Amino acid sequence: MNTSTNAPFHLRGNYAPVFDEVTTDQLEVRGSIPVELDGRYFRNGANPITGESAHWFLGDGMIHGVRLREGRADWYRNRWVKTPFHENPTKPVIDLENLDFSSENSKANTHVVSHAGRILCLEEGHVPWEISDELETVGPHSFDGRLDGSFTAHPKICPLTGEMLAFGYGFLPPTYLTFLRVSATGELVQQKAIDIPAPVMMHDFNITANRVIFMDLPVVFDLDLAMTGSMPFSFQRDNGARLGVMDRDRNDANVQWLDIDPCYVFHPVNSYDVDDHVIIDVARYPSMWETGSGSFNTKAELWRWDIDTVAGKVTETQLDDRPIEFGRIADNRVGLDYQYGYAVSLDLANTETSDSQSGTIVKYDLAADRSSIWDLGEGRDPGEFVFVGRPGTDVEDDGWLLGYVYDRAEDRSSLAIFDASQPGEAPIAEVLLPQRVPFGFHGSWIWD
Ligand SMILES: [Fe+2]
Repeated sequence: MNTSTNAPFHLRGNYAPVFDEVTTDQLEVRGSIPVELDGRYFRNGANPITGESAHWFLGDGMIHGVRLREGRADWYRNRWVKTPFHENPTKPVIDLENLDFSSENSKANTHVVSHAGRILCLEEGHVPWEISDELETVGPHSFDGRLDGSFTAHPKICPLTGEMLAFGYGFLPPTYLTFLRVSATGELVQQKAIDIPAPVMMHDFNITANRVIFMDLPVVFDLDLAMTGSMPFSFQRDNGARLGVMDRDRNDANVQWLDIDPCYVFHPVNSYDVDDHVIIDVARYPSMWETGSGSFNTKAELWRWDIDTVAGKVTETQLDDRPIEFGRIADNRVGLDYQYGYAVSLDLANTETSDSQSGTIVKYDLAADRSSIWDLGEGRDPGEFVFVGRPGTDVEDDGWLLGYVYDRAEDRSSLAIFDASQPGEAPIAEVLLPQRVPFGFHGSWIWD
């Protein structure tokens, strides 16, 4: 592990990459794995092949996966996504010199989702990369050649229609933003240009049963930063901030833009319609990258945006003052009224002075305006936790939270499984992994 205190935070401690691709079916389990969990937990993250990267977000994608079945942990394996950077690790991410903007040049490092029988590794600047259910790379997935551009790492799979709604953004005019619709059977059936004034970093978006809502926030493409090889974006307050509400099912739909206070949001928690209103809960940063894109010097807190589409205004309310990220909900509540959200309480601003991602898991009961936590204990650091609902139940929080936990004393990680309805209780099972899993980004539970 890189313990140099001179290294940037994303190359230190448990942010540092691992270099072995491991496969093992010899896994120690503490507690008992629920027998209903028949599938795979896959999680993506940046793991630079060379050991170096200019920014946390620019390392090569590596998936860590655990297969659960009949109360057992069948295997753990980790694999890089074999993108063009695997062959040529020093290739520039943004190749201004050779004008190589191939949509396959993905780091594929941000999320991994399953839709229409494919497992897709996503990174917002390029097309998805498909992997097998044993983490072997299949190749770039451009939807039969229909997509030649970017595809967000945060598509939303609508529980009502099975469609995967998405968008792509870029920094070359004239089209900075495109709405994308993938049918329930996996065809890219709609690409609709959306007009926004400037090329902004749009990391995520929101859907409801009737609408999509874009977040045009003032983290704007910055050519000077692009020339340095780092994340080419900076906070430009003058750009303003606005939400774009669009009827999701009308081809000719216009976008209604509503101003909000400048801020940044990587991740919403959820969104839903209430008649003429749209409610969006987000992890909101007051700003992002005001002085360079290398560090996080602000923290995100839970806010609610109540959009009144008739009056044309947004009411912004802070709901909690804990630092949070990685909000997740039940997959079957995406875009629908919901009661429970889960997040990791962590302060990324602290990563500048600490090698850990120390934190707790928070459960929000938004109906009761209450929250509760799981404290993992001293020296045990969680990443994102995903909610997996128990099959056959309608109770929203009847299920489990799954995620990787890094144990600093042992310098290894485990897959922890909590009962989502019992905050504060110890994990019902932990699968001890043969190596540490570096702090990463997003994952999914994929039913068999
Ligand atoms: Fe993300």
